[in-house]
Amino acid sequence: MIALKSRDEIGLIRQAGRIAAQCIEELVTQIVAGNTPLELDRFAEEYIRKHGGLPSFKGYMGYPASLCVSVNEEVVHGIPTSRPFKEGDLVSVDIGVIYEEFHGDMAITVAVGKISAEKEKLVRITRESLYKGIEQARAGNHVSDISNAVQKHVEKHSFSVVRELVGHGVGRRLHEEPQVPNYGKPGEGPILEVGTVIAIEPMVNLGSPKVKVKNDKWTVVTLDLLPSAHFEHTIAITEKEPEILTLP
Ligand code: MF3
Ligand code: CO
Repeated sequence: MIALKSRDEIGLIRQAGRIAAQCIEELVTQIVAGNTPLELDRFAEEYIRKHGGLPSFKGYMGYPASLCVSVNEEVVHGIPTSRPFKEGDLVSVDIGVIYEEFHGDMAITVAVGKISAEKEKLVRITRESLYKGIEQARAGNHVSDISNAVQKHVEKHSFSVVRELVGHGVGRRLHEEPQVPNYGKPGEGPILEVGTVIAIEPMVNLGSPKVKVKNDKWTVVTLDLLPSAHFEHTIAITEKEPEILTLP
């Protein structure tokens, strides 16, 4: 069952999403050589609480932090460490905010200083693939129309889509139905209706799509240790255009 959201409920998700997006704007200025993921995490938790929200991730299935910070070969769910960023790193930051019991979920990938041309392209194609997916987030479409649009864009540029992790419904819980894979044939899976709210979150690898989980039980890394990128927005299906709810 996909729990459809009312106008008012979507309004609360939009407020959660706004706190998340505004926090990310601040965090981006702090992703510089010498700063650490733990410093970002402390800033984010304080920022979220100061703006009337709660961090969605902290305590979620035992997760210990407010942010996921995933560097280079880390795909997602990186637990913030005290290891400083360095020039050339690719840094993904994922944030979830609860506002009045509703979640907003988003992620971006940014460069530390100057990065290689191939990392640059990986970031661009991953971001574009998210927007190709969002374009399909329309009433009457199937979930897999989003999946297929993401996959096609990524593979056209010879990158690969991670299969083991998927996007998801968003609402009173961080992860609701439906699952939103980043690969698949069009015209399959649940049909999107007005009031469906989903997080679309392509995870794209430079090399092989294969991933594993590190010994810390959370950090997902590429098996070939080549870099990975991740972008995420929370989207509402409306009568008209898809609405991005995670905007500053
Ligand atoms: N955006 C991520 C997701 O949807 C964040 C989850 S991190 C966790 O999976 F720590 F909360 F699990
Ligand atoms: Co998510």
